[in-house]
Amino acid sequence: MKKIVELLQEELSAAFVKAGYDEKYAKVTASNRPDLCQYQCNGALAAAKEYHKAPIQMANEVVDILKDSESFKDITAQMPGFINMSVSDEFLAGYINEMAKSDKFGCEEPEKKETIVIDYGGANVAKPLHVGHLRSAVIGESIKRTARYMGHEVIGDVHLGDWGLQIGLIITELSKRKPELVYFDDKYEGEYPKEAPFTMSDLEEIYPYASGYSKEHPEYKEEAQQATAELQAGRRGYLALWQHIINVSVEDLKKIYTSLNVEFDLWKKESDAQPYIPDMVQEMKDGGYAHIDDGALVVDVKEETDTKEIPPCMILKSNGATLYNTTDLATLVERRKLFDPTKVIYVVDKRQSLYFEQVFRCARKTKIVKEDTDLIFVGFGTMNGKDGKPFKTRDGGVLRLEQLLKDVNEQVLDKMKDRDMDEQTMQDAASKIGLAAIKYGDLSNQASKDYVFDVDRFTSFEGNTGPYILYTIVRIKSLLAKVKELGISISEDKGIAPADNKSETDVMLSLSKWSETVTAAYEEQAPHKICQYIYELSDVFNKFYHENKIVTNEDEAVRESYIKLSSFVGKVLEQAIDLLGLEAPERM
Ligand code: ARG
Repeated sequence: MKKIVELLQEELSAAFVKAGYDEKYAKVTASNRPDLCQYQCNGALAAAKEYHKAPIQMANEVVDILKDSESFKDITAQMPGFINMSVSDEFLAGYINEMAKSDKFGCEEPEKKETIVIDYGGANVAKPLHVGHLRSAVIGESIKRTARYMGHEVIGDVHLGDWGLQIGLIITELSKRKPELVYFDDKYEGEYPKEAPFTMSDLEEIYPYASGYSKEHPEYKEEAQQATAELQAGRRGYLALWQHIINVSVEDLKKIYTSLNVEFDLWKKESDAQPYIPDMVQEMKDGGYAHIDDGALVVDVKEETDTKEIPPCMILKSNGATLYNTTDLATLVERRKLFDPTKVIYVVDKRQSLYFEQVFRCARKTKIVKEDTDLIFVGFGTMNGKDGKPFKTRDGGVLRLEQLLKDVNEQVLDKMKDRDMDEQTMQDAASKIGLAAIKYGDLSNQASKDYVFDVDRFTSFEGNTGPYILYTIVRIKSLLAKVKELGISISEDKGIAPADNKSETDVMLSLSKWSETVTAAYEEQAPHKICQYIYELSDVFNKFYHENKIVTNEDEAVRESYIKLSSFVGKVLEQAIDLLGLEAPERM
């Protein structure tokens, strides 16, 4: 389905041509003065140069041709040469009815279906998931859902960090605490126990302890590095421990991601890319891309147009060890083999942007990815506390995500304590509202910006917040429940009637922007555009709701049309929050 601006543009193009002017001047945009008109065309101003005429004269000629068109309620030429337009109520209602009938509210299937891998989440096994990982999960999930809704083939990969020093640290610490474990016995050749010698809460204690200890004791750190190297070289006992660490952590991570309403299609890990490294390195050497520098194998990635220094990409250290970027490059090899993606999107802290610039350049230069594969880095800013510094617990520690969810939940429950609801309905509502508070608070900001995590504001039922959006949906649900309860019958054949007041027109205008909003959110990886849309739609809907009798309207035809419009707003809002990874409760 075409966008309204496109439909208007077609009409204007014909009129420009009829008046003797090039259709390229007929560009229509949403008005930047919504108090004066809904849409505008400034083309006559630009055409003045070519035709040596006063813009107002040309604008008047075009307006003259269109003044009887049924599409417009109002079309006028304004000094010095603007064309201001507002669409007719019939045109707008016709458009909304078309939208309501179409599968995706007017969003068309893409001309070219992309295969997109989204790398997000990025948790590290053995380390508890903290708020730093929250943004990647929340933003990535929305980007994934939006791309899928647009009709693309999308694969979301959590890309767990499981191949680094954290594993060596845990192995080292375990070897001190439980040296008798069979995993440390070099001579042991039998099978290792199925049961892990630790639980998730053990790991939560062991890792921070070992990490802290290694910072003060260089010899301990060396031991951990040695253990990491031995693991990577394939030492059996260490591999078995590593597998236990993964099993225990992944089970825990799955629970937390599920409670965040974040679902991965793939649970791949850094280690899965390791088998691709030897061939990849060989090809880099054979292709003449990599050279030895100070013992290390590197690929130069600087370009002439660089304004800042872009260091070479190191592939192997002088001791032959691989690095974070070696893994990322090998992961690209793996993804090409498995999925042949046309796009790979990384949702990672923006402090890694230089790093990804190096990786992308290296991948292109060494032809790991095809020329037309898009590599996209979506770098997000920091989640800060009210003091403007990175979000911490009251005692200054890193807050666990689970704790954050719990805290917010409690805050919401507190707000709802005098509601007349049974316990289960209340808990269900609180968890959905709490999640909406956190996720919407994040998603409504442009991803690249830092933002302040303000629980009081985010959990408010008013203003630009997740709970406010849910509240609007719940309001519509209860309105529809009332319709059912009163036995009001709604005909199938009649659509939504042309608006009979301004607040209703505003609802329709706002609704009509769905496909352009979702398209932009997809193309720019910008979930905040969906948030803007639903906030505006909720706002105009609530105004309409307050200013008009809906269920109790005496005029049956008007009542029916208002109910249909409300129901459609509800559908669109529910679809929109699904793209953000949220759900609405039945009541709140
Ligand atoms: N595990 C990494 C971290 O915690 C994030 C991984 C991002 N993705 C990637 N392909 N490098 O910083």
